[in-house]
Amino acid sequence: MSADNLIAARALHTHYGASHILRGVDFTVGKGQTIGLMGRNGMGKTTLLKSLMGIVKPSGGQVHVKGREMTGAPTFEIARQGLAYVPEGRGIFGNLSVRENLVMSARAGTQGQRDWTYERVLDTFPRLAERLNHGGQQLSGGEQQMLTIGRALMTNPDLLILDEATEGLAPLIAREIWRICGLIRESGISSVIVDKNWKHVTQITDRNVILVKGEVVFEGSSAQLHAQPELLEQHLGV
Ligand SMILES: Nc1ncnc2c1ncn2[C@@H]1O[C@H](COP(=O)(O)OP(=O)(O)OP(=O)(O)O)[C@@H](O)[C@H]1O
Ligand SMILES: [Mg+2]
Repeated sequence: MSADNLIAARALHTHYGASHILRGVDFTVGKGQTIGLMGRNGMGKTTLLKSLMGIVKPSGGQVHVKGREMTGAPTFEIARQGLAYVPEGRGIFGNLSVRENLVMSARAGTQGQRDWTYERVLDTFPRLAERLNHGGQQLSGGEQQMLTIGRALMTNPDLLILDEATEGLAPLIAREIWRICGLIRESGISSVIVDKNWKHVTQITDRNVILVKGEVVFEGSSAQLHAQPELLEQHLGV
């Protein structure tokens, strides 16, 4: 197993009670890579992310984080390896202000890096800079999403995992999120991006994975995926 992998999951199985959801998934994220994770509703994308983060305990297989086996380890320990997870449906502290939400999350990365400072996050999200004293619950859906991503960046992660970050957002705001995904990529942070919009996803990914009923049915570059329109049609609803 390459030590250059931030994440390497092998033959991962996950159950919810009697339901067998992940069925032998292999999934790797290399240093500096941007990975797209796609598939229709209910195919197991979120379950895979939760299994990687230890939020759900896998029933079989292994998850290595930076070469170290951490299958089903407590989420805080996995996060401390430099993995930041932005779940579906946000999750900010509504009773704290934008400023408090950001400042509270600040910490150095695993190599002591402090590339993402409060100032840099505000430069990246000018909309947040205009709303520093607003409470989390006063923000629009798009602003809340920016705040969750901003908070994740304040932890100076090595890997940022975004689950449906553009879901339900107006096109203009979604485009802003995609722009930020590009900036994150340029800054050298790896990411896993789950999103239904394969056109946007494949514009910035190094590799794409499609899940169907808990199994990987495609893994390859964006060019390889675009060369197989039947896959796009069958699994991504084009
Ligand atoms: N907590 C749970 N308990 C039982 N079943 C669950 C639970 N969470 C998800 N499932 C089921 O597991 C399967 C995979 O769900 P998952 O949320 O991983 O899919 P997904 O690909 O992220 O879908 P979506 O695109 O809708 O977010 C679905 O059949 C779902 O109903
Ligand atoms: Mg999901």
